[in-house]
Amino acid sequence: MKYLVTGGAGFIGSNFIFHMMKKYPEAEVICVDKLTYAGNLSTLKDVMDKPNFRFYKTDITDREAVYEVFEKEHPDYVINFAAESHVDRSIETPDIFLQTNIIGTSIMMDACRKYGITRYHQVSTDEVYGDLPLDRPDLFFTEETPIHTSSPYSSSKAAADLLVMAYHRTYGLPVTISRCSNNYGPYHFPEKLIPLMIINALHDKALPVYGEGINVRDWLYVEDHCEAIDLIIHKGRVGEVYNIGGHNEMRNIDIVKMILKELGKPESLITYVTDRKGHDLRYAIDPTKIHNELGWLPKTKFADGLKKTVEWYLNNQEWWENIISGEYQDYYDKMYTNR
Ligand code: NAD
Ligand code: DAU
Repeated sequence: MKYLVTGGAGFIGSNFIFHMMKKYPEAEVICVDKLTYAGNLSTLKDVMDKPNFRFYKTDITDREAVYEVFEKEHPDYVINFAAESHVDRSIETPDIFLQTNIIGTSIMMDACRKYGITRYHQVSTDEVYGDLPLDRPDLFFTEETPIHTSSPYSSSKAAADLLVMAYHRTYGLPVTISRCSNNYGPYHFPEKLIPLMIINALHDKALPVYGEGINVRDWLYVEDHCEAIDLIIHKGRVGEVYNIGGHNEMRNIDIVKMILKELGKPESLITYVTDRKGHDLRYAIDPTKIHNELGWLPKTKFADGLKKTVEWYLNNQEWWENIISGEYQDYYDKMYTNR
């Protein structure tokens, strides 16, 4: 079998490539990635020279280049992780989110139609459901929850989901969609909450918590997400959406305090900063469907996953030091100076 993974030089895509190559050593894995600020070839160094792995530096919005890859490779499965994924960046510059997340998705599906595939899988997000109130812990996102987005990022992901369902109905493309909650783990780009807080704490720098830190996210260890996608592409029903999440809701401030404790750093590093515009209050996934239909359950408890993640950042300083020494610094100054 041949799997084409877009966005495989990013956080979840790379973890998915490692998962697939370990679990299916006979499979061929093709990575297509534009290598934006969030994509890092060094992440893939352990698989780069394997005979059953190939990397294409390709933009999914470049139709001709995408078709060329399909012409050469003829993949069986296409798993589309490639996206602009950071909500804060989408508030600053929405355009590129529309290009990659919407147009890129349609071009990937056009290639699938043209060359024929077994399955196209769209990696979506729980953010397409908008947010839930903080005072209604009884409410969860199900696959039936209406799409109701808040940010340019989530709107672009929702638009892509609608296109995926349209390609299924109109052209009979064999698709599935997964909508996962917040991931954490190795190779998480240092602009996102957990790695940013680990790295700032290690440097004894202020930890910028938005608003009062009471927003809730539903955290899942990245390997659990990869296993869920593996199940969906092979056993999930065509034309279906599957929510992925492990009932692990946490307030941002509590996560930040756990990180500080893990690193033996003082809570005085916490600094409350101006809130994100349109900041979603709470995400909480109901994973009943994927559990009942595919038997999926998360394996990693948050306390263990966070410990492993902190250790990973301690043991892989070169990986993130290379990142934060470049363009990242300009972004950081722009977003956080005098915030
Ligand atoms: P990421 O930002 O770490 O990685 C994105 C990757 O896509 C990068 O390697 C980047 O170079 C590549 N890319 C961006 N634009 C591209 C283009 N035009 N052509 C080809 N490649 C391009 O993102 P992530 O956190 O790994 O998220 C992966 C997917 O999972 C996204 O679709 C995101 O919406 C979804 N998702 C993420 C989370 C999360 O918590 N991080 C949760 C649920 C869903
Ligand atoms: O829910 C899934 C989504 O999770 C994915 O679709 C997105 O691609 C992914 O980036 C993530 O989005 P969030 O906006 O939830 O993640 P982020 O790490 O940016 O922020 C998590 C929470 O922490 C959020 O409530 C904002 C807050 N935050 C974030 C940063 C970067 C802070 O308080 N301070 C910060 O400096």
